[in-house]
Amino acid sequence: MTVSARDMVIAARKGGYGIGAFNINNLEWTQSVLKGAQEANAPIIVQTSMGAAKYMGGYKLCVDMVNDLIDSMGITVPIALHLDHGNYEAAKACIEAGYSSIMFDGSALPFEENLAKTRELAQICKDKGISLEAEVGAIGGEEDGIVGMGECADPDECKAIADCGVDMLACGIGNIHGVYPEGWPGLRFDVLDAIIAKVGDDLPLVLHGGSGIPDAMVQEAVRKGVSKINVNTELQLVFAAKTREYIEAGKDKEGKGFDPRKLLAPGFAACVDMVKYKIDVFGSTNKA
Ligand code: 13P
Repeated sequence: MTVSARDMVIAARKGGYGIGAFNINNLEWTQSVLKGAQEANAPIIVQTSMGAAKYMGGYKLCVDMVNDLIDSMGITVPIALHLDHGNYEAAKACIEAGYSSIMFDGSALPFEENLAKTRELAQICKDKGISLEAEVGAIGGEEDGIVGMGECADPDECKAIADCGVDMLACGIGNIHGVYPEGWPGLRFDVLDAIIAKVGDDLPLVLHGGSGIPDAMVQEAVRKGVSKINVNTELQLVFAAKTREYIEAGKDKEGKGFDPRKLLAPGFAACVDMVKYKIDVFGSTNKA
């Protein structure tokens, strides 16, 4: 069974390491992320965007799929199933469907509304033993049609949202979803320091857009207080590259190479390796 992400991010914050939060897009993705976590002996967060959950067949299907795979694959490391960038309605629906962790992203709402809805959801999640992530300051780039302008979070707003009783806080520090553009200036550690000075040393912070940030820069963010790092695009890129290699080598035309169980195998293996690599960079290998 999936567990709340609360204990894993608190332990990570105290222990100075980061928990990998990997977006899933289909069955193979889910299996590869779970296999990578088990092989690395690491706690992880498996997350779905609203769009990916819809693509796969809905929130209930995602809950059943992840829980059933934990069982059938013999997964023993802690796994949280998290809604990524949920709106208010999706947050409520996922709480109902059995997600063990929720992100309510009210960053595009007027701040007072973000605050009120975060506060309400924090109470509901607390009562149900579900962890809650909130967001201040839209993350740059585009995800699921939601376009953020990449603003940096206001430390006072971070403090107000933190005081709602959230378990983790995502705050823009110059990070962007997707591939980083040429000449990207890097994470704003000055903003991260200012946020930590306001919210304190105990609150686990979340770094979105974890793909493509130099490893040493991610590790510096973790050292300062980032305890959950989201990764989606890098898994998509390695999956696509390995699938392309397979087809360009004509392997789909050899024997039954067109069988999806063969066709998708190289991409699957590359995702497992990438998950293990990221877990290692974040410092959470053997932290299960
Ligand atoms: P990337 O796709 O850039 O890795 O970002 C993932 C993410 O932050 C999901 O919320």
